[in-house]
Amino acid sequence: MSKKTFYITTPIYYPSGKLHIGHSYTTVAADAMARYKRLQGYDVMFLTGTDEHGQKIQRVAAENGVTPKEYVDKIVAGIKDLWSLMKITYDKFIRTTDKEHIETVQKIFKTLYDQGDIYKSEYEGWYCTPCESFWTETQLVDGKCPDCGRGVEKTREESYFFRLSKYQDRLIQLLEENPDFIQPASRRNEMLNNFLRPGLEDLCVSRTSFNWGVPVTFDSKHVVYVWIDALSNYITALGYLGEDDSKFKKYWPADVHLVGKEIVRFHTIIWPAMLMALNVPIPKQVFGHGWLVLEGGKMSKSKGNVVDPVVLVEKYGLDAIRYFLLREVPFGSDGVFSNEALISRINSDLANDLGNLVSRTVAMIQKYFGGVIPKERAAGDYDEDLKAVVSQIKGKTEELMDKLQFSTALAEIWKAISRTNKYIDETMPWALAKDEQNKPRLAQVMYNLAESIRIVSILIQPFMPETPEKIWRQLAVPESQRTWESAGVWGAYDPVSPVAPGEIIFPRIDMAKELEALSALDNSAPAQAKAPAQEKKAEAPKAEAPEGIALIGIEDFAKVDLRVVKVLACEKVEKSDKLLKLKLQCGDEERQVVSGIAQYYSPEEMVGKTLILVANLKPAKLRGIESQGMILAASDKESGKLTLVTIEGEIPTGTKVS
Ligand code: ME8
Ligand code: MG
Repeated sequence: MSKKTFYITTPIYYPSGKLHIGHSYTTVAADAMARYKRLQGYDVMFLTGTDEHGQKIQRVAAENGVTPKEYVDKIVAGIKDLWSLMKITYDKFIRTTDKEHIETVQKIFKTLYDQGDIYKSEYEGWYCTPCESFWTETQLVDGKCPDCGRGVEKTREESYFFRLSKYQDRLIQLLEENPDFIQPASRRNEMLNNFLRPGLEDLCVSRTSFNWGVPVTFDSKHVVYVWIDALSNYITALGYLGEDDSKFKKYWPADVHLVGKEIVRFHTIIWPAMLMALNVPIPKQVFGHGWLVLEGGKMSKSKGNVVDPVVLVEKYGLDAIRYFLLREVPFGSDGVFSNEALISRINSDLANDLGNLVSRTVAMIQKYFGGVIPKERAAGDYDEDLKAVVSQIKGKTEELMDKLQFSTALAEIWKAISRTNKYIDETMPWALAKDEQNKPRLAQVMYNLAESIRIVSILIQPFMPETPEKIWRQLAVPESQRTWESAGVWGAYDPVSPVAPGEIIFPRIDMAKELEALSALDNSAPAQAKAPAQEKKAEAPKAEAPEGIALIGIEDFAKVDLRVVKVLACEKVEKSDKLLKLKLQCGDEERQVVSGIAQYYSPEEMVGKTLILVANLKPAKLRGIESQGMILAASDKESGKLTLVTIEGEIPTGTKVS
């Protein structure tokens, strides 16, 4: 009989900048699940990848002065490096720029068009570029994107539409009849009450205002809406409609799509409707996990926290980071990330509870028995209680893992670790060792400690790819006693070679020193730490496209007051070949700004231009002239190109830009 299959996916990531620890969250969780199912004997398909098309990527690439493909190639290489550093055992990495994917998306679009599920019309409404989402006027919250709170753009284009409304009743039925389809349950209610029951509108599924996307084969000025392109990845990756669809036949429908909570809507409404239209089975489950945020917002670097997963893994080791991600927050809820919480977990759970248990046990077996526990053993108090707790954890862990409850599964394992530590205090091996007559009892105590550790070391494998091997080496656990099954069998440990005391698996970290070192590492540390550098900066007030786009929260962005301004007058600054002095109209106020753009624009051509001003920048003096703000420009150091940011259409000066 062939093995049971298990198909798990992560979202495909936007390669629009550097990944932070929050992005690693979904992927580490999916990896733990994939490892767990493989250990249980499943034939696992674990898919991840990148979502490379769309307006956002096209813009970021343009800001960086490269083609979209050049831009994504570089970022995708970095993402793959990160997954290899984090020992992510994906079976396939799909890129939406892969030829096979593009061809299949084109076939899907054509099929839906031919059968009347896609039709041509005109779109008029709002578009949130960061989310790549369409919104109607009434869906906006205070005129902003209801998902992310950022500004939206008015869009009016000839477009193709998908008959989403036609599937409303079947979608409601799907959610009502399959309570497990969306997890956690609260997200299911949100979908039913906020989206499905109020009624679905047909979905705009093509764009003409940019071209970085999958071309519609029968109407070449259109590209496929990026979410239709992206969601299809879960089946195109398996060869759906391709030459070899054996993987599709084998693994589809997916057992679970793991996604962040903000994209549950796409996965539980648009995606099943597409599949219904294609007559393809619906995935078994969509699990919407929460966000890992920094105090007061999303992932921002402003609080002196290091959120770069590469730095974190290099500093604390992979297993510590993976443990923290999966242990700290119940999977499904939002959680706060801080370096302090991370170090505190490392010290208490890993260094103290687990690391110490292993090193003490190995050291005692070495000291009392020269490395091999004798076969002559005597049972005693506390043995049965320890055994009862530890032999149950495999079953409990499995039950929780099957519900993707990583945090509680780890908590169960750690209960067994605590019980084992307590067993040392109860049995007091150092006291037993004083009397030769107690040797058999001491041997049994050592055996029980080692056996608990062996069971724990097997069960932590899904979460920690490096630690189990280290424990097995130190405890000399033979290969045959490392199987997943054997974690359910108390007494399977039967050591033949001597224990091998070795490195400290999780060294303790000095919290105070470490936090200081971390804030020195972080270049956007608290404001007072960098005040001196800021004063010098007034030299060249021009906007530069950032290299590795740092992530900021919406609250950080909101601090910047951007305004529409018109150039009233402009002249060269004396004795400077770089600077122009501008007189700007900003509502009923006039502003004087000095800008380093003289090599790109003449004073004459500046007059009358509508530009964007950073209106709340501290005034600075350049060549003795006061500059009250900064105008925005896109510039590329390498090619020496610079172009001013202007505004499309007529809008009064002083208008806020957000
Ligand atoms: O949404 N905490 O891609 P993406 C937890 N391309 N999870 C986080 C997080 C945080 N701070 N920040 C990001 C997309 N994520 C689409 C998906 S799938 C067909 C297309 C998670 O790069 C986020 O919730 O914006 C999402 O699940 C994943 O990272 C990718 O986000
Ligand atoms: Mg996102």
